Amino acid sequence: MILVTGANGHFGSAAINFLIEKGYNKADIAAMVRSEEKGQELKAKGINIRIGDYDNYDSLVAAFQGIDKLLLVSGTDLQNRTQQQLNAVKAAKQAGVKHIIYTSFERKNETDSSPIAMLGSSHVQTEVAIKQSGIAYTILRNNLYLDFLPMVLGEKVFETGVFYPAGNGRFTPAARTDMAEIAANILTGKGHENKDYYISGTESISFAEVAAELSTIAGKEIAYISPDTTTYIGALTGAGVPEIYAGLFAGFAQAIEQGELLPATNDTEKLLGRKPETMKEYLTKLYSKN
Ligand SMILES: NC(=O)c1ccc[n+]([C@@H]2O[C@H](COP(=O)([O-])OP(=O)(O)OC[C@H]3O[C@@H](n4cnc5c(N)ncnc54)[C@H](OP(=O)(O)O)[C@@H]3O)[C@@H](O)[C@H]2O)c1
Repeated sequence: MILVTGANGHFGSAAINFLIEKGYNKADIAAMVRSEEKGQELKAKGINIRIGDYDNYDSLVAAFQGIDKLLLVSGTDLQNRTQQQLNAVKAAKQAGVKHIIYTSFERKNETDSSPIAMLGSSHVQTEVAIKQSGIAYTILRNNLYLDFLPMVLGEKVFETGVFYPAGNGRFTPAARTDMAEIAANILTGKGHENKDYYISGTESISFAEVAAELSTIAGKEIAYISPDTTTYIGALTGAGVPEIYAGLFAGFAQAIEQGELLPATNDTEKLLGRKPETMKEYLTKLYSKN
C-alpha cells in the first residue's frame, strides 16, 4: 500500500492523480489529510483516506499502519516543520513503513550562511533522520517550482515589469506537475531505494530571460529590474506581504544569484521519460489568451 501525505495539496493530489492515470490500483492508494472534510474529493475518487497531522505523532503512527511506501510531502509551516517532519519519520519507523520518498529541496550551502537556511535546514535535518532510520529512502532534491514564478512576478507584471532581486543569477526550475509525476513513477517503479535524485528543469534561466519571454507573450517590452534586497523587501511589506514571506522571496533571489539552485546533475528526464516542461512553455500556457 502506498500513502501520500499532503494529499489535498497541489503536489500530493497531482501525485495521486498520476498514480491513478498510470493504472495503479486505487484500493492500494491511501491519502493522508488533516480532516475527513479535506479528504472528501479523494474519497469520491475511490482513494482510502487516513487522517493524520504532522503535529500529532500518534495520528501519524495510526495513519501509516500497513503502508509499504510513503510519499512524505514536506510541510508548509516554516516555523515548526522540522519537528513535524521528524515526527513523520519516527512514526514511519514505528509503523513499519518500508520505503520513504521525501520531497526535499535543491541547495549547495547547508550552513546557516545560506540565504535559504530558514527553509533548507528543515530539509537537511529531515534527510538525515530518514537516512538514519534504516528505512529505504529516495530523496527528491526538487529545484524551485516553475509555479513559483507567478508568485514572484505578481498579478501586475505586464504593467510593472519584472521586479526581483536575482541579478544575473541563473537557476533550473521545473513544473510542479512534472515533479509530482516523477514521484508517482518512483512509487510505482523499481530500483529507486537509497538514492538522492536531482529534479530540475533541463535549461538554466535568468529573470532577464523571464522578462524577455513575457515581452514576447505580451508583444511589448517587459523590463527586468533587479532592486537591492532592502528595497525589494520594503516594497513587498509596503504592499502588505507578511515579513516572513518577503524575506523568503528575497532569500530565494539571493540563492539564485549565488548559484545555489544550479545542480551539477539532473535526473529529471530519465525519471520522467521525456523532457520536462520549459519556462517558455509554462509561461505561454499561463499567460497567453488562447
Ligand atoms: N520547490 C518549490 O519551489 C516549492 C514551492 C512551494 C512549496 N514547496 C514545498 O513542497 C510542498 C508541497 O507543495 P504544494 O504546492 O503541494 O503545497 P500545498 O498545496 O500548500 O500543500 C501542502 C500540503 O501539506 C499539508 N500539510 C501542511 N501542514 C500539515 C500538517 N501539520 N499535517 C499534515 N499535513 C499538513 C497541507 O494540508 P492542509 O490543506 O490541511 O493545510 C497540504 O495538503 C510544500 O508543503 C513545501 O514544503 C516547494
